[in-house]
Amino acid sequence: MRQLSLTSTSSFQALETHAIEAEDWEMRSLFAADPQRFERLSCEAAGLFLDYSKNRLDGRTLELLAALLRERGVEARRDAMFAGERINNTENRAVLHTALRAPRGAKLVVEGQDVNADVHAVLDRVKLFSDAVRSGDWLGYTGKPILDVVNIGIGGSDLGPKMVVLALRHYAHPRLRMHFVSNVDGHDMDAALMHVDPETTLFIVASKTFTTAETMMNAQTARKWFLQNAPEEALARHFVAVSTNTEAIKTFGIDPANMFPFWDWVGGRYSVWSAIGLPVALAVGFGYFTDFLAGAHELDEHFRTAPVEENLPMILALVGFWNRQFLGASSVTIAPYHQDLNRFPAYLQQLDMESNGKRVTRDGEPVDTPTCPAIWGEPGTNGQHAYFQLLHQGTDLTPIDFIAALRPAHEMQNHHTALLANCFAQSEAFMKGKTLDEVRVDLQQQGLALGEIERLAPHKTFPGNRPSNTILMERLTPATLGALIALYEHKTFVQGVLWDVNSFDQWGVELGKVLAKKIEAELALDAQPELHDSSTNGLIARAKAAV
Ligand code: F6P
Repeated sequence: MRQLSLTSTSSFQALETHAIEAEDWEMRSLFAADPQRFERLSCEAAGLFLDYSKNRLDGRTLELLAALLRERGVEARRDAMFAGERINNTENRAVLHTALRAPRGAKLVVEGQDVNADVHAVLDRVKLFSDAVRSGDWLGYTGKPILDVVNIGIGGSDLGPKMVVLALRHYAHPRLRMHFVSNVDGHDMDAALMHVDPETTLFIVASKTFTTAETMMNAQTARKWFLQNAPEEALARHFVAVSTNTEAIKTFGIDPANMFPFWDWVGGRYSVWSAIGLPVALAVGFGYFTDFLAGAHELDEHFRTAPVEENLPMILALVGFWNRQFLGASSVTIAPYHQDLNRFPAYLQQLDMESNGKRVTRDGEPVDTPTCPAIWGEPGTNGQHAYFQLLHQGTDLTPIDFIAALRPAHEMQNHHTALLANCFAQSEAFMKGKTLDEVRVDLQQQGLALGEIERLAPHKTFPGNRPSNTILMERLTPATLGALIALYEHKTFVQGVLWDVNSFDQWGVELGKVLAKKIEAELALDAQPELHDSSTNGLIARAKAAV
């Protein structure tokens, strides 16, 4: 059945009326009026605590948002996803990344296929292989154990494993060095190959389709580099593939025995839980990889069963939706106050923007409201000394997700205290701001003359009333990291259903790929083709002149 357009739904219209009432709300006053606000507007599951009290909303807002969620059929669509229905309607595929983290024996038969058995058969192979490499039983062609692992992949075949390996560095094997090459820019491959020795390096070619141009070129380059030193039969000890495309890996020259398969019902940006997570299993070991999957599964169960009012991904999605639709927030900043989550914002960029960066509904009709905001960010406290100025005093409203662990993985408690103090201080500052009068009093106390006070006060005033969420975990562990990623995956899912877009395709990346192929061929020609607009022709000409 066709969905009503978002703005035609009665719950959206009720929210529009409510948003007019809420226009002048000040969070300072909301906190002053309700001493229980923090307790009421926070919830906890799977080792994650979410404080969403520093948003411009109240209980009534949440009731209306929950009504919208129900009217849009989020719960039914969620159940359809978990059951393996083909909810990716433009690619006619199921969406089953949740099955990748379900424990062995969980019943899931989809269209006659025992999905749980398939998933665990591959996990068993990941275990065998990662155990062998880590223990030193898997030897390179000259009989030495593996010291370096180079993952060659891009997008979902890079961002997830790289982010997780960095985040879990405290759990990593002391011998194995992990490298990630994604960019077609040869500088990326160059930087990796500089540090590795063919005798002790394992290459993982990770590509769902095994057709992605960047990955294919990088894999060929790595193969050529390897064969400069090693004999052809050594390839089998040094090249493995993770893919859904057996034929293509055979053509590339990788032994299918060294292929770790996954399935077309795993989207690239949702694939870190599959064999695409092989670098994670190699780095931290299969036991911690299993904990990572278990953390995500715990969050899945919470998402599947908790009522809307206590459901972390639903709340995060609804609050984000409110900020996007009714407060006009066109971007969201992710601020992990944890250096090991350095790549988490980049990971979320693909997850969220490739999923919900859409302009037509599942039925192909233009959407009638804005959709996905831009996602960006850096770890705190670094971001504070770069772009937080704009967040505090710029003209746009940019909500922030603060993410922190209460306990560090190091012994420098003074650093951790300072880190958390900054995290909490920032969310307080965004909420409270500093009024003109408060600034005047400050400047008076500093003994400034009246004229000087009036000149400086507007510059030192903070409007405040700027929304943020804070997500806390006890420690950053494989399990809490798994839960954190799953939280954002399901948040993205819920928002996609609210907007009625297909969150699981990515046709928007295709046009550039096709044009790049054409221009790549033109760059190799002797003559200067004049096939494009004057700008593109001019740029091509400059590149050709430089060769
Ligand atoms: O072009 C976009 C994309 O398809 C992403 O969705 C995907 O994660 C990435 O390319 C890599 O794809 P593959 O794993 O098939 O090489």
